[in-house]
Amino acid sequence: MTLKFSQIHDQPETSTSPCVIVGVFADGGMSEAAARIDNAASGAIKRLLESADITAKLGSSSLLFALPGIKAERVLVVGLGSRDKFDGAAFNKAALEAGRAMKALPIANAASWLTELDVPGRDSAWKLRTAALAADMHAYRYTATFKPKEKSKTAQLESLAFSGNGDARALAEAAAMAKGVRFARELGNLPPNICNPAHIAAQATAFADAQVGVSCEILEREDMEKLGMGSLLGVARGSANAPKLVVMRWNGGGEAKPYALVGKGITFDSGGISLKPGAGMEEMKFDMCGAAGMLGTFVAAVELALPLNIVCVVAAVENMPDGNSYRPSDVLTSMSGQTIEVLNTDAEGRLILCDALTYVQKFDPQVIIDAATLTGACVVALGKYASGLMTEDDELATELLAAGNHTLDRAWRLPLWDDYQSALDSAFADFTNLGGKYGGAITAGCFLSRFTTGYRWAHLDIAGTAWNEGRKGLATGRPVPLLTQYLIDRCA
Ligand code: BES
Ligand code: MN
Ligand code: ZN
Repeated sequence: MTLKFSQIHDQPETSTSPCVIVGVFADGGMSEAAARIDNAASGAIKRLLESADITAKLGSSSLLFALPGIKAERVLVVGLGSRDKFDGAAFNKAALEAGRAMKALPIANAASWLTELDVPGRDSAWKLRTAALAADMHAYRYTATFKPKEKSKTAQLESLAFSGNGDARALAEAAAMAKGVRFARELGNLPPNICNPAHIAAQATAFADAQVGVSCEILEREDMEKLGMGSLLGVARGSANAPKLVVMRWNGGGEAKPYALVGKGITFDSGGISLKPGAGMEEMKFDMCGAAGMLGTFVAAVELALPLNIVCVVAAVENMPDGNSYRPSDVLTSMSGQTIEVLNTDAEGRLILCDALTYVQKFDPQVIIDAATLTGACVVALGKYASGLMTEDDELATELLAAGNHTLDRAWRLPLWDDYQSALDSAFADFTNLGGKYGGAITAGCFLSRFTTGYRWAHLDIAGTAWNEGRKGLATGRPVPLLTQYLIDRCA
């Protein structure tokens, strides 16, 4: 369950919430709410800042307990950094830190005054939504595969109130995005022995069954054979887990052409016969995060009952080595009729996506967007902060980049110029699945572009952004905020 969000009109010093959250700037200036607390507590915050017992550094927070003159038992003082550098990204960072700090506290609810801060170029709806999503990011706990714990005696954060009035729409958007993000994160975090193609199909079916107006169809191996999806099925051959193609539809938009969302759902990417090295291979359970992100976006859009038609197609496949696996030098025939020489069975994402991209065209979409943890090269190029955006449609690029900037789920555009296409030349098939040495994110995009001619199409490479690095790295739920915002913006 996501956090419950609400708004309140209290003053911070008289609020009876178990925890009030206020911000302080590094250059001495307190936020209005912090100043009110400080006044009522006879200058306590000022003294603590002066003595450097608490800091106003951006990304820091300090918990003050039982301040004299303050009704609330706890005051969480969040550092905002310097006032002239305080922008949307800094606001988000402060809100995330507040969320992290609250997770450690034995409280079920809290009240935040961060939404009263001035953020250049951002309105109150934005602040509300951003603060709410940031809090939910940290409130989420992954518990599915731990030994069942006795019910904890300490409270956990369940709800969060924000100072301000009546922005019901912003709260609804925050709740919907949080729900979509959690849906995506949970699928991403589950291990591949649980989250296999059948599990993804079952989760999609369960969502559709619980929701009025959502249809869900699962295509099985035989269905895909009939459709001629030789490329997707080639990848699936090595796995004991049968592939599933999930097709979800939401018709909130009357007769309009649908927006198509296509996701890469490799539930585990061993590399296949082109086996990956052992170190870090466990991270390849996250190789279905494109699928999870598209399903999460779909969930958020349905939650908001957006007046659009949306079709979400997710290719759920496992890439494994086996006596029956596809191999380097195999030639596969895709659903589009184009043949593909397999030069590396680890470049499998594009091979399942291409058939999903062809399939979705039967719904006559006005726009096709795919998301995929497609290339390590994208992580090399852009690092862990920006998703790679590739499209030949400048307007679509502008719209998607804007949605990313608005939600701080940001993307950065890479070119799809024809110059790169020849990297896919083959002597034995129409083209290969492997680009040359350089520009691997782009040549992967070029491969996909050969299956979307005539459509407004964009590709998001989320290999760097879909999960956090390291042993304790969790799925991030990206690009659910970006894509949900993109769809919201299409309703105006
Ligand atoms: N799922 C991987 C891409 C990936 C790698 C995502 C590391 C996140 C972190 C993809 O299927 C893959 O293996 N790509 C290869 C492509 C290569 C064989 C052309 C890669 O990036 O090395
Ligand atoms: Mn691979
Ligand atoms: Zn992969």
